[in-house]
Amino acid sequence: MKISITKALLADIHRIAEIAAQSFPDPWTEKGFSDELTRKGALLLAAKDESGNILGYITGDADESFGYIASVAVAIFARGHGVGTLLLKGFEKMLPPSVCKITLEVRESNSPAISLYAKNGYKQIGIRKNFYGEININGMLIPRENAIVMERIIK
Ligand SMILES: CC(C)(COP(=O)(O)OP(=O)(O)OC[C@H]1O[C@@H](n2cnc3c(N)ncnc32)[C@H](O)[C@@H]1OP(=O)(O)O)[C@@H](O)C(=O)NCCC(=O)NCCS
Repeated sequence: MKISITKALLADIHRIAEIAAQSFPDPWTEKGFSDELTRKGALLLAAKDESGNILGYITGDADESFGYIASVAVAIFARGHGVGTLLLKGFEKMLPPSVCKITLEVRESNSPAISLYAKNGYKQIGIRKNFYGEININGMLIPRENAIVMERIIK
């Protein structure tokens, strides 16, 4: 199946927020995503199949020197088929040519994501203690957690 990675449109935001909601305990809202469409320096990309169905998204920031990935997720049914990898590559392609590195944070327990990043050239450069705060979802407590900081040097 051919998958394209393109800048997200306003019409994509509802589905992107649905994918975030099935992927994270503290997902961004539709408003949070739609703000990214107009915020200076922000990049929000969607992975779409040939019929235009959204399979995943990636969002972050780029200035002339640095890229930063804030969030990436793939719809549960579409995972394990290379969409996450395509999103990382698509994000990198959209950065200004002067960008020399991309950084991100990932939960210490998120081994699928850590493995995805490592496979795509990201290396651990540090740990942010208790970067993710405690979350209470309908009485269920998700404890605070460290972030692993990862970086990919482009040039
Ligand atoms: C992390 C995520 C984006 C990966 O997307 P994906 O489309 O399944 O990734 P890919 O198919 O491109 O997989 C590439 C590599 O990632 C790693 N990977 C992906 N899923 C994995 C899993 N369940 N367990 C272990 N490694 C996994 C593997 O190294 C894989 O390479 P391989 O297929 O050669 O083994 C997806 O699992 C997801 O949306 N998770 C929930 C949201 C999330 O945690 N986002 C990251 C927050 S920092």
